[in-house]
Amino acid sequence: MSQEQTKTVLVGVTGCIAAYKACQIVRGLQKAGLRVKVVMTPHATEFVGPTTFRGLTREPVAVDLFDNPSAPIHHVSLAQEADLFLIAPCTANVMAKIAHGIADDLLTTTALACTAPLLIAPAMNVNMYQAAATQENMVVLRRRGVGFVDAQEGYLACGDQGKGRLAEPEQIVAAVLERLERSQDLRGRRIMVTAGPTQEPVDPVRYLTNSSSGKMGYAVAERALARGAQVTLVTGPASLEPPAGADVVQVRTACQMLDAAQQAFAQADAGVFTAAVSDMRPAQPSDRKLKKGSGDVLDRIELVENPDVLASLAQGRRPGQVVVGFAAETHDVLDNARAKLQRKGADFMVANQVGEGLVFGQDQNQAFFVFANKVEELPLLSKADLADAILDRVVELLP
Ligand code: CTP
Repeated sequence: MSQEQTKTVLVGVTGCIAAYKACQIVRGLQKAGLRVKVVMTPHATEFVGPTTFRGLTREPVAVDLFDNPSAPIHHVSLAQEADLFLIAPCTANVMAKIAHGIADDLLTTTALACTAPLLIAPAMNVNMYQAAATQENMVVLRRRGVGFVDAQEGYLACGDQGKGRLAEPEQIVAAVLERLERSQDLRGRRIMVTAGPTQEPVDPVRYLTNSSSGKMGYAVAERALARGAQVTLVTGPASLEPPAGADVVQVRTACQMLDAAQQAFAQADAGVFTAAVSDMRPAQPSDRKLKKGSGDVLDRIELVENPDVLASLAQGRRPGQVVVGFAAETHDVLDNARAKLQRKGADFMVANQVGEGLVFGQDQNQAFFVFANKVEELPLLSKADLADAILDRVVELLP
């Protein structure tokens, strides 16, 4: 991939034993034709000296908030110059500060002032990685559109074994290149996403639903926003914070979802249908609470089929509108997904296996993209990365 010479990547280096690997990352980015500037936390300089990075980049290396005589407001000028801010390695502490808007050194101040995409490659001890605080900070950052090159499993400098190793420098460089190329590839496009479960009332206090968390749809919305799209998120009840910047339409039932999706899709270039829509609903929800012992519950819930949101919008679409469906299957994943692709009329289905703790509510997902003429098998990915992979295909399919 060729990058324009003018693109600048700001590399933030934090205080961690893996800081020396930032040298390889800087080299890799330069080899790809990028201009690299480095900002370090004071702790990072305990591991690698600024002189090393100065030599590698032939640029001044900033550490202290007040140490650049040529730039009066250095954190702002650094932030403005960056087309992408990569923090690698990023400690749990720096991640926590960024998640909470704390800006007490040049690196974190720059992160707060920077409007360019932020990419974080964490590195830390396995227990620090797994700590609830760290995990929650990562969720917050992802929700804001921050990209991650996730830490890897392996032997850690502290002697522990587990997740926390900095990803390989080549992988981090590849993620930067990918991110720069994608950074605004959905600008000017409108994407509609359905997400979450639906609830079909049985009576005023009961309903039929399923265990969809909405995470996948929210991740697609988040990544589409980060890539410049205008996003309408039509969501059933989910206990997630919708991504900032999306137009959010909250619905409860499948029929409401169909109405809202129809309206949003009329303006959209693409629809990604991640919602786990309830296939049926009670024909006549009771307006009084059903009472046990009266025979009500067992004898009187008659079900009728719900409209198929995906099928009805895919079949009535304008030429050029892209439609992506999901197929959650407990068995015969590919065959079932192919049948759904045909039946519903999507461009491709994202198929995965559900059941036994798989997918619903999980943060990672192993999926297949099932097209009419081919199947792509994806590796185990975070929902954010899977969302990006889906949007990559959408970009290819858009006229
Ligand atoms: N879907 C939809 N409206 C429905 C049912 C499903 O929009 N009433 C969409 C889902 O959002 C998903 C795709 O159709 O993108 C497949 O959903 P899935 O639940 O796997 O399929 P079903 O049609 O429910 O088929 P089955 O019950 O046979 O698995």
